[in-house]
Amino acid sequence: MPDSITPTIEVHLGPGDLRAAMEADVRSGLTAVPKQLPPVYFYDDRGSRLFDEITRLPEYYPTRAERAILDAHAKEMVEMAGADILVELGAGTCDKSRVLLDAMQACGLLGSFLPLDVSDTTLWEAATRLSQEYPGLTVGAVVADFHHHLIHLDASGRRLIAFLGGTIGNFDPAQRQEFLAGLVEIMRPGDRFLLGADLLKDRGKLVAAYDDSAGVTAEFNRNVLHVLNRELGTDFAPDRFAHVARFNEEDHRIEMWLRSIDDCVVHIADLGLLVSFAAGEEMLTEISTKFTPLALQDELSAAGMDVEASWTSPGDEFMLTMAVRP
Ligand code: AVJ
Repeated sequence: MPDSITPTIEVHLGPGDLRAAMEADVRSGLTAVPKQLPPVYFYDDRGSRLFDEITRLPEYYPTRAERAILDAHAKEMVEMAGADILVELGAGTCDKSRVLLDAMQACGLLGSFLPLDVSDTTLWEAATRLSQEYPGLTVGAVVADFHHHLIHLDASGRRLIAFLGGTIGNFDPAQRQEFLAGLVEIMRPGDRFLLGADLLKDRGKLVAAYDDSAGVTAEFNRNVLHVLNRELGTDFAPDRFAHVARFNEEDHRIEMWLRSIDDCVVHIADLGLLVSFAAGEEMLTEISTKFTPLALQDELSAAGMDVEASWTSPGDEFMLTMAVRP
């Protein structure tokens, strides 16, 4: 067990694994029809800074809405969970975790915190800061991917596993089902899952949140091309790709695409691959699913959890749901 001053870090995902995954994703995604890339590659240092900027845009309501729910109900949530271990999936800078950690501390429940993320540097910095700020808190950071490594989140005690920010929206229905099944499998009876999800709403408002007037989301979207140019030696001209955000009515999701302005051929040096884009051709870079409360609760129940409570923000913009493994 880690001591309370120095956090520990457990790495299940080394640079070699990340590299292999990127090569495989880019090879399959750029040879698919339509072309697509997974959203995880947005988040290098620049992309993480751009995302941070997005969360403060007037049009991007989810971060503020979720924060308002946490501020109003964190105490009730941690009392309901009765957990002494907080696990956060996709923890990043651990900013959201603080609200829950504070509430657990106030209830005298705070034992350990296990943040999981794919970025070791971000996680290490956050873990170090938190163990200084919360004396007595055991911090065990886990560098891992929540699609494959949930098994490494084992700890004795009762766990509250938080998956916040609406990241579940990035998964398609099959990925959600697989993720929830994997989660239930590692949960013990009494462990809780706290899920943040964005809700279906006015289409104009949804689209504006992903196509802001300052163009930050457009730059965030194109950032994946800068990442590939640097990491895989591709020669994308990012400014020749237009940002597209639209609502897919059939699948209830915002989709972000990059539309090639010109006919072009992109050379992926590190894969020895040439890929051509027709003028106007679009590549899918992110899906952000919007839920109805009932449909999401049904998915949790179908996965084998009991939904205990849910909280929505003013105007029903965003929802947090608490579910327990019976
Ligand atoms: C971090 C996945 C929750 O889907 O709203 C924000 C990412 N993309 N603007 C979202 C994002 C464009 C965000 N998530």
